[in-house]
Amino acid sequence: MEQQLFYIKTFGCQMNERDSEIMAQLLGEAGYVESAEMDTADLVIINTCSIRAKAEQKVMSLLGHLRGNLKKKPKLKTVVAGCVAQQEGSEILRRMPFVSLIIGTQNIYNIVPALQCAAEGGQKVVTSLVDVYDIPRFLPSMDLPPSAVPFRKFITIMQGCNNFCTYCVVPYTRGREVSRLAVDIVDEARVLVEGGVKEITLLGQNVNSYGNTNSVAPGRGKGEYGFSELLREVAALQERGLKRLRFTTSNPKDLTDELIDCFGSLDILCPQLHLPVQAGSDAVLKRMNRRYTISSYLGLVDKLHKVLPSIALTTDVIVGFPGETEEDFEGTMKLLNDVRYHGSFSFKYSSRPGTRAADFSDAVPEDVKSERLHRFQKRQDEISLERNKEYIGRELEIMLEPADDGGLLMRGRTGSNLIVHLKEGVKAVPGDLCMVKITYAGQHSLQGKTV
Ligand code: SAH
Ligand code: SF4
Ligand code: F3S
Repeated sequence: MEQQLFYIKTFGCQMNERDSEIMAQLLGEAGYVESAEMDTADLVIINTCSIRAKAEQKVMSLLGHLRGNLKKKPKLKTVVAGCVAQQEGSEILRRMPFVSLIIGTQNIYNIVPALQCAAEGGQKVVTSLVDVYDIPRFLPSMDLPPSAVPFRKFITIMQGCNNFCTYCVVPYTRGREVSRLAVDIVDEARVLVEGGVKEITLLGQNVNSYGNTNSVAPGRGKGEYGFSELLREVAALQERGLKRLRFTTSNPKDLTDELIDCFGSLDILCPQLHLPVQAGSDAVLKRMNRRYTISSYLGLVDKLHKVLPSIALTTDVIVGFPGETEEDFEGTMKLLNDVRYHGSFSFKYSSRPGTRAADFSDAVPEDVKSERLHRFQKRQDEISLERNKEYIGRELEIMLEPADDGGLLMRGRTGSNLIVHLKEGVKAVPGDLCMVKITYAGQHSLQGKTV
């Protein structure tokens, strides 16, 4: 067979990014070669996201573009993977009959045989989703030239979600929550660190419930080995050269005191936490099925600040959820002003097919959603700037990142995950740590000089 070039276009969250890496490794092991550009590839995989309607529209327009390329390249193979593939399945094939394969979120480990089977006239829609299964043991390949070794990596520690927030497609696109075995995760982390990786982020839709739905360690039942324990095991790789550890995402309803205490006791754990609140009104939280209240959420914020006063908190917010009144929304603004988040992601509510909220009445008009989003983001920008200014004059450790322009490294990241631009470049390799004094703060980044 002549060499086949593949290209993967990834939409959506970091878990999708990691899934794309896994598919790329499997394709590489099967003899495919990664292409730097989509238009020269013989095989294009679109790893899709359906969290909001806009994300799904992007996929359809990219498929339209690829249909155009088919005229120049009749043998081009197109694969749709990820959350849209899982949810829409054969409906995609009906609208885009040229697609070679639709592969669901639990099936990515079978990408190579599935491609082959589809090419031989077999099944083109491989989207089986089961409730109970084992996530295959899979070790990353670190057989790379030194310049290609990434300095930071993601590790997916669990799949799926059992929370069924009423607005959210994830429980339908990713299935029930299943945790990977702790030994597989720690081995993966060890391979990365021994290969030169300096920063690891542990990923899951709700990492705080790691180990709650299946047993993840020998001799320990469900709920007997939890996320804090896993975090401490991975943190111990500090001895082998790991410098920074992060995790995302935490659902406030499952944030334990034990996990909060890790911020005080593990110095390798970065001083930041993404703690999505979604709304600042108990009535809205209830209709969202979030299962916490604003007062219990603020209790967590207090505890976190007590354990680590410098912790940088970020959040996600949805505005215009069905039935959200002006008073409800003012609750969200009040929460923003009380917590003074370092940053946030905010979205207009987008109705998703199959979710419970899709049937809720009292939709908020589009113009009201837009106005609320604007008000929220404007205030967040002001607060982010104030928060960033708190860093001026302080000496901080940053992890240096690859430069856009090659040569000297001109930027790094604080433990709180803010970019620091340097006036003068540093001769170092990405992943090295360096002390800087902050001299200027903008809304989205800082400036500093080395000390
Ligand atoms: N598991 C994470 C969230 C993953 S989705 C958690 O529970 O926090 C990322 C963010 O997308 C969510 O936090 C939410 O703010 C937003 N989101 C999810 N569904 C949405 C919808 N239907 N409309 C608008 N925003 C949505
Ligand atoms: Fe979606 Fe809620 Fe699960 Fe997060 S916790 S993925 S918002 S259902
Ligand atoms: Fe999107 Fe699926 Fe992630 S819907 S946010 S890619 S879990």
